[in-house]
Amino acid sequence: MWETLAGAVADARRRTLELASALSAPQLLGPRLTIVNPPLWELGHVAWFQERWVLRHAAGRAPLRADGDALYDSAAIAHDTRWDLPLPDLAETTAYLREVEGHVLALVQRRGAEPYLVGLSVFHEDMHLEAMAFTRQTLGYAAPVLSGGAPADSGGGELPGDAAVPGGTFLLGAERGERFVFDNEKWAHPVPLAPFRISRAPVTAARFAEFVEDGGYRRREWWSDAGWRWRETTGADGPAYWERRGGHWWRRDFDRWVPLEPHRPMVNVSWFEAEAWCRWAGRRLPTEAEWEAAAAGEPAPGGGLSQRKRRFPWGDEPPAPRRAHLGARYLHAIDVGALAEGDSAFGCRQLIGNVWEWTATDFLPYPGFSPDAYREYSQPWFGTHKVLRGGSFATPPRLAWNTFRNFYTPDRRDPWAGFRTCAV
Ligand SMILES: [Fe+2]
Repeated sequence: MWETLAGAVADARRRTLELASALSAPQLLGPRLTIVNPPLWELGHVAWFQERWVLRHAAGRAPLRADGDALYDSAAIAHDTRWDLPLPDLAETTAYLREVEGHVLALVQRRGAEPYLVGLSVFHEDMHLEAMAFTRQTLGYAAPVLSGGAPADSGGGELPGDAAVPGGTFLLGAERGERFVFDNEKWAHPVPLAPFRISRAPVTAARFAEFVEDGGYRRREWWSDAGWRWRETTGADGPAYWERRGGHWWRRDFDRWVPLEPHRPMVNVSWFEAEAWCRWAGRRLPTEAEWEAAAAGEPAPGGGLSQRKRRFPWGDEPPAPRRAHLGARYLHAIDVGALAEGDSAFGCRQLIGNVWEWTATDFLPYPGFSPDAYREYSQPWFGTHKVLRGGSFATPPRLAWNTFRNFYTPDRRDPWAGFRTCAV
């Protein structure tokens, strides 16, 4: 366990520094938008968070920087003021990241660290890594150059059709055990599920384009009241990053334009757009219990759902590239038909990896919820966010498992999120 932890600390830090690469000083600050952080602030915040929890809170160390809390405490510093802080430059911020990493690795190596908090700090960094990557897409910066990349994929096509999942009592959430879980996954509790049919793959870009070409963004009847308000307020008349040129769709991929890839999942879509597409197509979003049952459930021999749950759609072995597109091996989605070896017991593909998947469900606590040490992780966001499941191509493999709950407000289009649907 200690070697794995040390490896994860070093791996996350290497990625963090790669994500800051080749950004100019103005780009490191970036525009003042509610959906992004200044990249320079985010870098320092990652180091501060790890220092705060692993070195200061658990190991009782004195702060490394006198101004750390005043600069980087996300719970205390209002988002829109982060551009006005006297942030250290990239060289000084990098030195801080390295210094914290060195202290944490030394503690881990002599087994003096609190494993849960080291894990938390790594996962926190992983979440910011993904956010820093999609911030570069949001702002039209060049794609970061990441080590350990792989050649681009060779297709896979589409995967139409539904999988049938039997009903029964499903245990939603994480079961008690040795591994790391977040407070919002605790604990598995029975929920009744009616039998349902869920698409084997996420909705593709080509299928979403049909909605756009059918006037989907102009037709009130496909949108909920909140969705229509969002559409009118933002002026959204088509998907983010799409443009029609010469009768074909193009999409902006970081700082360049590429022809739309028809069989890749629809991505950078808000919950409201996903909801409108579903209404247009006569479908619906899965609840998070349905999503988790499709991913973790197994058929019982006599019918219904087995009480056994899989940690990953394909079983209990950790993710591998042949099963799930994770870890930023390349920073784009792949065709929804690829990676058949990652199928769930019911034949759903890519439930983990490729794109996050919106669910119909509001982000709420499970019964008996109590916050863990990092109290601001889940609790402030209950009731205002929607649950997403699965993980994207930029999510590190260590942060993807069937019961993991991600959450965003329904207006967000900047995360690499798509959706799959259920038969109504
Ligand atoms: Fe954070």
